[in-house]
Amino acid sequence: MLKFEFKNPTRIVFGEGQIAALRSLILPGRRVFILYGGGSIKRNGVYDQVVHALAGYTLTEFGGIEVNPHYETILRAAEAARTSDADLILAVGGGSVIDAAKFLASAVTATDRDPWDNFAAGNYPREILPIGCILTLPATGSESNAVSVISSTVRNLKIPFANEAARPTFAIMDPSTMASLDKRQLGNGVVDAFTHVVEQYLTVPGNTPVQYGFSEVLLRTLIEWGPKLLDDNSPEARENVMWAANQALNGLIGAGVSQDWSTHMIGHAITALYGLDHARTLSLVMPSLLRFKASTKQMMLARYGRNVWGVTAADDKTAAEEAIDLTEDFFHRMGLPVKTADIAPIEISTDDVVAQLQRAGHVQLGEMADITPTQVREILAHTA
Ligand code: NZQ
Ligand code: ZN
Repeated sequence: MLKFEFKNPTRIVFGEGQIAALRSLILPGRRVFILYGGGSIKRNGVYDQVVHALAGYTLTEFGGIEVNPHYETILRAAEAARTSDADLILAVGGGSVIDAAKFLASAVTATDRDPWDNFAAGNYPREILPIGCILTLPATGSESNAVSVISSTVRNLKIPFANEAARPTFAIMDPSTMASLDKRQLGNGVVDAFTHVVEQYLTVPGNTPVQYGFSEVLLRTLIEWGPKLLDDNSPEARENVMWAANQALNGLIGAGVSQDWSTHMIGHAITALYGLDHARTLSLVMPSLLRFKASTKQMMLARYGRNVWGVTAADDKTAAEEAIDLTEDFFHRMGLPVKTADIAPIEISTDDVVAQLQRAGHVQLGEMADITPTQVREILAHTA
């Protein structure tokens, strides 16, 4: 097992009707800065619940956080939060809004008014504003992790930022908020969470049976409940997927194991170039990447095939191949693309993706740091 530290301070408040608990989570008299996205919360009643729960508090709101949130918009939000003398940032939405809130909480107290480079180098202000969130789309795990993935239109980059101090103080997870999600977002969420587990699990074997066992439970849960969620968006499916997606990226299964975030980094480059939804870049890249890396990942792939998919092949090579085929089929059943033809009219230029990765400094990816631009070209060639 690798050395690790694990601390997840986010208080999770889970279940239907829990938005009403806001009053018990935020001290009376606090000035709350509500951050939201393109307006889904105003259409589905979540906004009304928040405002009702916070009657008597001083509220300022900032809407318009984009999908794949823009740095430039977050800087405007930071200015508004400073002007309103906010005590707490309350993110209401999916991963994009929560990521924006986490970055914003540091930008508000930073002396640097253009803090991209400082934050990218890990230099955050000592004090940042506390963050609370109300999750409306299970997918990213952002509600209780340290990461923000931010895009800069000026720099033409989409990169992750990690700040332990930005883990939300609380996360309200009310599965009934998922009622207004369409099949595209539901499918995206399940596949995003699935790949988060895979990238912390399908590497090289270690002495980590607890982490592997927990990962396998999460994968089996998403395989069982993901299609049901797509089928009827039932309360049972919502709560199981919401909880699994949170656990997939709250730090627990990744503690002490080697990790391979190459699918995500290639995916971020594709989103930055073409605007393709985050999860759809992952479903496109992951099967090709796993096939390309099948020999180095063979032991874990075979274990995954047997323990998660019930593959019975006796030899590891066949079990690994069957596991990848089943993964690809699952992404497809969830309504996501697995070949470049599925994302038409978008056409991916390998040269542009490689240049994008180089600009982001992502040139040695994978658990062995051996996924170089040359290998990325081969992986992308196999998505055709
Ligand atoms: O903007 P609004 O109007 O809120 O609409 C959103 C958006 O259009 C809508 N939506 C959210 N909840 C809804 C709803 N529509 C109806 N009913 C609801 N209850 O869904 C659309 C997508 O929302 P978004 O927040 O962009 O989706 P997601 O949660 O998938 O977040 C994606 C972002 O998270 C980053 C991604 O790169 C991407 O930028 N990630 C963050 C991670 C992290 N912080 O750890 C890890 C992930 O791997 C990922 O990279
Ligand atoms: Zn993701």
